[in-house]
Amino acid sequence: PQVRSYNLVITKDLGWPDGVVRDMLFLNGKFPGPLIEANIGDTLLVNVTNGLSDNSTSIHWHGLYQNGTNWFDGTTGVTQCGIPPGQSLLYNFTIENQFGTFWYHSHSGTQYLDGILGPLIIHAPEEAEVRKLYDTDRVVLVQDWYHDFSTVNLATYLEPENENTEPVPDNGLINGKNYFNCSSYGNDSGHTCYENSTYNVFNVEPNSRTRFRLINTGAFAEFDFSVDNHSLSVIEADSTLVNPHPIDRGQIHVAQRYSVVFEANQSTATNYWLRMSMITFCFTGTNPVLNSAMTAVISYSGSITIAPSNASVDWKDAYSVECHDLDPSNLVPAKAMLPPPATKFYRVDFSFGIGDYQLDRAKVNGTIWSPLANTTTLQETVMGLNSGNASSWSVDEQVGGALSSNNQFVLGVSSTGVEVIDVLVYSLDEGGHPFHLHGHSFWILETGSGPFNWTNYHTNLMPSNPDAVANPLRRDTLTINAFGWSVIRFVADNPGLWAFHCHIAWHMEAGLLMQFMSRADVLKSMAVPAHVMALCPSG
Ligand code: C2O
Repeated sequence: PQVRSYNLVITKDLGWPDGVVRDMLFLNGKFPGPLIEANIGDTLLVNVTNGLSDNSTSIHWHGLYQNGTNWFDGTTGVTQCGIPPGQSLLYNFTIENQFGTFWYHSHSGTQYLDGILGPLIIHAPEEAEVRKLYDTDRVVLVQDWYHDFSTVNLATYLEPENENTEPVPDNGLINGKNYFNCSSYGNDSGHTCYENSTYNVFNVEPNSRTRFRLINTGAFAEFDFSVDNHSLSVIEADSTLVNPHPIDRGQIHVAQRYSVVFEANQSTATNYWLRMSMITFCFTGTNPVLNSAMTAVISYSGSITIAPSNASVDWKDAYSVECHDLDPSNLVPAKAMLPPPATKFYRVDFSFGIGDYQLDRAKVNGTIWSPLANTTTLQETVMGLNSGNASSWSVDEQVGGALSSNNQFVLGVSSTGVEVIDVLVYSLDEGGHPFHLHGHSFWILETGSGPFNWTNYHTNLMPSNPDAVANPLRRDTLTINAFGWSVIRFVADNPGLWAFHCHIAWHMEAGLLMQFMSRADVLKSMAVPAHVMALCPSG
């Protein structure tokens, strides 16, 4: 194992990834941020410096467990206070028991949409078998993109009576670039636009095999991906290796990752489009400048002047694909890991509360999240558990949760010892919501719509019959379907406060986030490092 050091400096400047000039945020002067790469067992030391003048920031390592280092999870208001302008935070954690495709991003407000994001890849000897399936390895970041700073769009979204009017993207980006047709804006002088924006080009050797690590780093849009004239083989979902599963195209929602193997086995006489189509079917609004069919070029020859061929499949029906994940039953983990029997069950409902005079706000079991301003839920919890006056933290698990000082829903799932938690997540809303659990991977036990089938749950999933669930997919971000539900299971062995939220940035800011508190017995005596505490005004 090694210690790997990185420096990330966050600054604000003008940028034009697709030709349209806007204020955006950069990491070390770049967008997207640098690739962070390590081996399993390594320690990462990442010094994050806030070079902004007006806002605090943080970095979350999406998908990393942070077992024993909850305070480096990077979630503003939950595990740390934001790093104030001009200050730095040294994140220091060891990567244990996990490898694969991850990413990192700001977890302060909607900041990541303005550019604070990048890929994070962990290698491991356990990948020896899967490495035989490909020759080269490439990261493909895909995201929706907006031509205004995120806070401008957010303010509009949160205005009263804006039911279901999420900001509709202006464009999409692949590895931080894409073409945009400046004339879409007509005479709208509000935008400076350079006509020289271009597609990304991926050069591949004829007959070689490439592992494309697709990461949706966007705010809102789910993408439909494919490569003309080629099929793809899915080998990883989030950071779980799966048995190769051939597809012609697939869907990737916000914050999810898939690795697909692409074989360059077609004619070298032409180039091919890698297509990333926003599934606009899932949007309520429209945007006249949006061309949702985004592309990058795959070139065998290195010549980008050859125009790509046209698709051999009818692409148009992609727009009406339902807002769902790739079917988990087709994604079978290469290494079976049977879920242990559950010891606890919780139900979490979410909905949007919108009325004539209400703001557009999301509710999880009736509470609306907003980050604590001058402290963190983690700090409150450690103090509460130690003060002997921990009434708000002696969680009544049957009732199903406690409220932090500003009414945030915190579910104490594991007060003593390691518990195995089932959560029924129930959507009382239209639209698909990509939910992410910090600090854990979870098994997807069941997904459905309409009333929950208790009989089936008790017969097939409860401790009485653990073997009924054989090797289900485990991942860290899954889409809860419109008016649907899923049952996930995770092992709460990880002391701390862990956010569970919809990763659609607008929804998180509307309050669609809750927290799990795990291992209160250990957490009580864990000391949050002084340099993390010091970020809080009260610290
Ligand atoms: Cu990708 Cu709460 O994070």
